[in-house]
Amino acid sequence: MRSLHHCPAPAKLNLFLHVIGRRADGYHLLQSVFQLIDRADTLHFDLRDDERIVRTTEVPGVPAEQDLIVRALRLLQAEYARRHGRLPPGIDVAVEKILPMGGGLGGGSSDAATALMAANHLWRAGLSQQELMELGLPLGADIPFFLFGETAFAEGVGEHLQAVQGPDCWYVVIEPGVAVPTPAIFSAPDLTRDSKAVIIADFSSSLISVAKEAGFGRNDLQDVAERLFPPVAEAVAWLARYGDARMTGSGACVFCAFTSEREANQVVAEVPGRWRAWKAQSLPRHPMKSLLQNQAVIE
Ligand code: C5P
Repeated sequence: MRSLHHCPAPAKLNLFLHVIGRRADGYHLLQSVFQLIDRADTLHFDLRDDERIVRTTEVPGVPAEQDLIVRALRLLQAEYARRHGRLPPGIDVAVEKILPMGGGLGGGSSDAATALMAANHLWRAGLSQQELMELGLPLGADIPFFLFGETAFAEGVGEHLQAVQGPDCWYVVIEPGVAVPTPAIFSAPDLTRDSKAVIIADFSSSLISVAKEAGFGRNDLQDVAERLFPPVAEAVAWLARYGDARMTGSGACVFCAFTSEREANQVVAEVPGRWRAWKAQSLPRHPMKSLLQNQAVIE
């Protein structure tokens, strides 16, 4: 097989995100629930006749050499060479990007995870899901989650993942029109870093209601992001008229859950024109996950 086209790289929402400490290297220890949603970038992969990794599309603001997709593919290419004693063929990768940069939706990490799944398959590299997660982690703390590919309770810096049953609902997501650099939020002196760690014993029942009872249900990064990026605060304030409005990741996007698609559509229609807004549905499983289990290939 020489190509894999129309590979989705779905976004995530952090249904809550608590910062419970800090590692010696400065990375923060989290407790969070990651939920995949059905809004995605789309990637296309073609094997080359040489050994180069080439991004064939422009991504504004992201030079190809810095792109997590290119860096992830090079890492896997090197790992392949270590195992097999020769480099696999290069890859042309084209990206249709709809997820905003600095949006807290994990777009860059998801693109990289999809690239790892696709190349592992095209090259028959044979890495397990766990090995791909370990390979991707140094590139971004969210990458292991996308390779895990199911709603997950995350701990550590995001690499300890446990499957949980997420809520089956619709979300309205607002893009406040600013790109939030993650390091700026995590390095803020006034960031809450000492939320109490919660032990959740029963993951089989609804995690979200268990979490609420346990006092979960915030994003500890939100206060700092709202202070540094006022459009985030404005979007939260606007969406809060419909329910529990919250930021995802380190921002900038904010979301609110709805039980019906109709209600979500109505709210999207009312969002002021200065913001881009859309509805999304929770996605129980990453559409690329079948590749990791050697099932039929999409496309
Ligand atoms: O997600 P990523 O690994 O790309 O993180 C970008 C930056 O955010 C890191 O360099 C670090 O400063 C900060 N970060 C953190 N703790 C995390 C995740 C990210 O301090 N768990």
